[in-house]
Amino acid sequence: MAQTDNKKFFENLTGAGKAIAVLTSGGDAQGMNAAVRAVVRMGIYVGAKVYFVHEGYQGMVDGGDNIKEATWESVSSMLQMGGTVIGSARCKDFRTHEGRLKAAHNLVQRGITNLCVIGGDGSLTGANLFREEWSGLLAELVQQGLIDEEAAQKYSALHIVGMVGSIDNDFCGTDMTIGTDSALHRIIEVVDAIMTTAQSHQRTFVLEVMGRHCGYLALVSALACGADWVLIPEMPPEDGWEEKMCQKLSAKRAGMKRLNIIIVAEGAIDRNNKAITSDHVKNLVVQRLGFDTRVTILGHVQRGGTPSAFDRILASRMGVEAVLALLETTANTAACVVSLCGNQSVRLPLMECVQMTQEVQKAMDEKRFEEAVRLRGRSFENNLKTYKLLAHRKPESELPHSNFNVAVLNVGAPAAGMNAAVRSAVRVGISEGHKMFAVSDGFEGFRKGQVNIYFYIPILITVQQVLNSVAYMGDIQELQMDNITHAILLEKECLLQLCEARSSYEEFCIPLCMLPATISNNVPGTNLKHTHSTCHSFLGMTQRYLVIKTDFIYQLYSEEGKGVFDCRKNVLGHMQQGGAPSPFDRNFGTKIAAKAMQWITKKLNESYRKGRVFANTEDSACLLGMRQRAMVFQPVVQLKDKTDFVHRIPKEQWWLKLRPLMKILAKYKISYDVSDSGQLEHVVLNRPKESEAMAAI
Ligand code: F6P
Repeated sequence: MAQTDNKKFFENLTGAGKAIAVLTSGGDAQGMNAAVRAVVRMGIYVGAKVYFVHEGYQGMVDGGDNIKEATWESVSSMLQMGGTVIGSARCKDFRTHEGRLKAAHNLVQRGITNLCVIGGDGSLTGANLFREEWSGLLAELVQQGLIDEEAAQKYSALHIVGMVGSIDNDFCGTDMTIGTDSALHRIIEVVDAIMTTAQSHQRTFVLEVMGRHCGYLALVSALACGADWVLIPEMPPEDGWEEKMCQKLSAKRAGMKRLNIIIVAEGAIDRNNKAITSDHVKNLVVQRLGFDTRVTILGHVQRGGTPSAFDRILASRMGVEAVLALLETTANTAACVVSLCGNQSVRLPLMECVQMTQEVQKAMDEKRFEEAVRLRGRSFENNLKTYKLLAHRKPESELPHSNFNVAVLNVGAPAAGMNAAVRSAVRVGISEGHKMFAVSDGFEGFRKGQVNIYFYIPILITVQQVLNSVAYMGDIQELQMDNITHAILLEKECLLQLCEARSSYEEFCIPLCMLPATISNNVPGTNLKHTHSTCHSFLGMTQRYLVIKTDFIYQLYSEEGKGVFDCRKNVLGHMQQGGAPSPFDRNFGTKIAAKAMQWITKKLNESYRKGRVFANTEDSACLLGMRQRAMVFQPVVQLKDKTDFVHRIPKEQWWLKLRPLMKILAKYKISYDVSDSGQLEHVVLNRPKESEAMAAI
């Protein structure tokens, strides 16, 4: 649609005269409050009336004070709160026709014909059924004299938009559901804690995690903490798994490991669909190995606590998109669900997604497990593949033969998740038969020859701030002659310099791969780096603080705020580079490094001729980055024109489009000129008169 038509088409996009109700249903999930806040504030921003429905569908059936108009202030200070402040319930009444009739009456009495449901697939299915029955329900209400014909005409269509609020991440069509990332934080916090006590007593711990019939939480937790074994419903263990698991646990102990971690999804089953419980696993380990073993069932802790930065932003974006979706509906618009696709929020047909989600369960029930994994999506498949690659160490005798040496080094400032990436790279490299070398202290260490052969247990590589890595090239070139490094895997932005040094030093004509690891999220060619942990550490500090960028601003606020508010300065500094990596960064670092190592092996084999490696084509020096939903190898020379070298940032940064959205939710006077989903360009909302909108502040 041409921009002018686009602009004209959306200019009358307004919520004036519309009423939106928002409810949370099913198991609560961290981030639900952020979604509710976004729906309320975006709804008010576009001029609609917004109502809370307290206690989920039960509140809609019971009506009365359960359905209350929301104001701008009523959703203040809730971003950081876990759970759902408007309550949730698993509602039997709504499953009955009478219950839905009551709910319809309660909505019509308030002129509500737009419903935003935040919940799992069951809750969203219920919403769609309600929409399908709506006209019949209104006819019944007219018949019973509870509403008049005019009302039935005026409110003849119910519009539904869903957002998936569930920690299980079991909804097909979205990469992540609201709450999953926060639940992973809870799980990893527990695993990190359990590991210290397990280490002290040389114990095996069996950890049971939630997920209902989905193994996502278990699988990603196992990947992020390097669990020795994981049991998930989508991929039940092969027959004889008990013996294999015990062999694995014993081998780890023999390798001087003082503990074992086994993660069991609560829905884990065997190949005959018989439940595998955490107690069963514990008894197995005790009886067969005699190991001191304990079970920890994490339970509802996984649903508690503050939402992660990721979930707050995900939920806010979905909430805004949900309101836009409601504004665009017509009488026959089918129910949609706002989903995450890569870093885009998109709208998908609700019932198609629900049907696909139900297909997964059907595939598992019918023991079509490979199909179930495929239906869970590429990210799930990749997680499973990477876990298997790293968790099962091949005996030396079974390793492929390789003549290659691969060096791994970190360059530049540290970023949480780098160690996960190094661990993954080394283990995949060893499993491919390569000799793996750790270069300590980046290029300077390379120049000084701080190159140590890696064994299976990776050595932590210290990082060295790179002053000017090109200056080291000559020295490194000599060094390489000694160690005959055939490929280099590095994290950070000096790949281009290595690439350009190839014309002067033939020794750099080898496969070179760079992983983007920086808290600044400023590497061209990828939407994501090891940034996630920073956002999370940032949250802990800023719930009540003004984030002050410069002394001037601090003095300005201090002066202007005299007698109204206090102002303090708080420079987060290097704390942002510190601390434990988030589950996302552990998982991202692990997966991206494993993929990089497999690419290096492929490139080594392609460029090995007459006893030597020679690679100088563009595609032999790549950055591995996340583009939308896929990890893509991009020749670093092709990223030059995407890079603003002066400011050391990509020329395009996808996340900048979030600013208008976040400003609206934080009370700025601003036009919202592009929809997050990209489905609406230049949305010029017919915003309420400034006075009305601002009066709500
Ligand atoms: O769907 C979210 C979830 O936490 C599941 O992982 C878990 O099996 C279930 O809810 C627990 O339900 P309840 O909170 O009703 O016990």
